[in-house]
Amino acid sequence: MPDQEQDSHRLVLHPLSEAIGVEVRGIDLNEPMDEILARTLKAVWAEKSILLIRGQELDDDAQYAFARIFGEIAARSKPPVEKRDFVPDPENPMHLITDRVDENGNRLGSLGHGEMYFHTDKCYEEKPHRASTLYAMEIPSEGGHTKFASLYRAYDMLPDDLRNMLEGRRALQVYDFGTVPVGTDVKIDELMHYWQPIFVTNPDTGKKALYVNRLMTSRIEGLDDAENREVLETLWDIIESPDNMYEHIWAPGDIIVWDNLSSVHARTDWPQDERRTLRRCTVQGDTLV
Ligand SMILES: [Fe+2]
Repeated sequence: MPDQEQDSHRLVLHPLSEAIGVEVRGIDLNEPMDEILARTLKAVWAEKSILLIRGQELDDDAQYAFARIFGEIAARSKPPVEKRDFVPDPENPMHLITDRVDENGNRLGSLGHGEMYFHTDKCYEEKPHRASTLYAMEIPSEGGHTKFASLYRAYDMLPDDLRNMLEGRRALQVYDFGTVPVGTDVKIDELMHYWQPIFVTNPDTGKKALYVNRLMTSRIEGLDDAENREVLETLWDIIESPDNMYEHIWAPGDIIVWDNLSSVHARTDWPQDERRTLRRCTVQGDTLV
């Protein structure tokens, strides 16, 4: 039979945790990729939410070609005013996540330093990014890990009465919600936001996911303030339970692609004086149902 099939058969899939993620071994992303292999990777990603491939040497074009397996590359939306000088070229789909500066002191990327709560990329827009690829270039001596949690499994773990109560409701997703101090007089219209279905269906698998996250979900349709707080706390407990997670400790050369529809991700802190640089390229999604 053709080499293509043999190529796909050489892949070794190694689960990253019980709940989420697969490491793919036996692949070099600088080699030409045939259609069967690309389809296999996409199917595994859709089912397991995260693919990790280690030990890659990828330039911009190679990462772009890898991301393209999962859909159309997303155009970068204009960053909010206060962050614009962090993004040297908003038109370039390859984007550095770093606090590095060049020799003239200009920032080379965005998202700076420090911990970041669980979230999913662009959930506050009608058509969130479907997939995000992140390629590790410079990694600190400790910390700066990325934690992933499964929204498929979170949906499955919901108690029946809670799932029935939430069925058909929407959740308000707001950019930077988690960083707006309590009591601040910020109106929702002043922030990027979108009411998304609280349960979404992955068009590739037909599986349902609980589409909320600690950083950006501000409220659930039809609940008063006390109910809202209580229900969201319950949902964070389910999503962020240790057995629903995988924590990735990066090494240079790692590339991960995650599904923003069926997973959330968070970042741990690292020493202030150490650099952490990853290159991101994202894939456009569609309206969620
Ligand atoms: Fe993110």
